[in-house]
Amino acid sequence: MSIPLFGLGTFRLKDQVVIDSVSQALELGYRAVDTAQIYGNEAEVGQAVAASGIARDQLFLTSKIWTENLGADKLIPSLKESLSKLRTEYLDLTLIHWPSPKGAVPVSEFMGALAEAKAQGLTRQIGVSNFTIDLLRQAIDVAGKEAIATNQIELHPYLQNRKLVEFMHSQGIAVTSYMTLGYGKVLTDPVIQKIAGQHNATPAQVTLAWAMQLGYAVIPSSTRRENLAGNLKSQNLTLSAEDMALIASLDSGLRLTNPESLAPAWD
Ligand SMILES: NC(=O)c1ccc[n+]([C@@H]2O[C@H](COP(=O)([O-])OP(=O)(O)OC[C@H]3O[C@@H](n4cnc5c(N)ncnc54)[C@H](OP(=O)(O)O)[C@@H]3O)[C@@H](O)[C@H]2O)c1
Repeated sequence: MSIPLFGLGTFRLKDQVVIDSVSQALELGYRAVDTAQIYGNEAEVGQAVAASGIARDQLFLTSKIWTENLGADKLIPSLKESLSKLRTEYLDLTLIHWPSPKGAVPVSEFMGALAEAKAQGLTRQIGVSNFTIDLLRQAIDVAGKEAIATNQIELHPYLQNRKLVEFMHSQGIAVTSYMTLGYGKVLTDPVIQKIAGQHNATPAQVTLAWAMQLGYAVIPSSTRRENLAGNLKSQNLTLSAEDMALIASLDSGLRLTNPESLAPAWD
């Protein structure tokens, strides 16, 4: 079991916008789609996937359990609702979206319920998102490191999260980078733009190729066909060791996603 290196994000995209984004992406050759209960678009993602006619076993669908559904009595019923909206019998990957605010639901409770969801065949793989080293250690204690497919975290050239990544590598837990493009912020960076010019590539392609070359899975989102197509082609770009070193030097610890009500004490 493993997770695809490249997929489509759907955060903020709703209604016809998400239907169009997912439909165009699938047409272009995307096969992995990342959604979440809180995005309020699982039904539309499911609609676009169904309309694509692509066989279920060719797709990789990820969703994330919202914090209100972390209790042992809520997690599996909420996942079943997600499956129904997504018009599928199983997810390929189900993540805990954020750790339980203020530790209201113990890690052992929701990781136990998530493992049970997997045992019931509702999801092929399980993982977490926005987990720190401390929280990952707790999750590993319950589920075992082999069971945790990934930790999906904010990671882009301005926030490279090296300490956490090092720990994840030591445990064999795959890194999924969210907001790899820094929600567009890194695309105007002069270093990224210069490297892009040298490769006759776009800044987005350079940024995505950088992350994938480090072994991180990426899930960029876009509402534009040309961006969707360009981002997909980042898989064909190879950066030099010098390019990689230049991008490594851009880390400034800039965290874009830090909701007060949810954020744990970051590493
Ligand atoms: N687990 C979590 O807590 C969490 C948090 C945030 C995000 N995520 C996941 O990660 C995914 C990616 O993050 P994100 O969507 O927030 O940000 P992102 O992928 O870093 O950036 C998306 C933005 O970049 C623009 N863009 C995309 N491709 C481009 C290109 N080739 N050239 C120029 N601009 C481009 C898009 O605009 P256009 O539409 O105009 O192309 C959009 O405004 C999300 O969709 C979601 O699935 C997870």
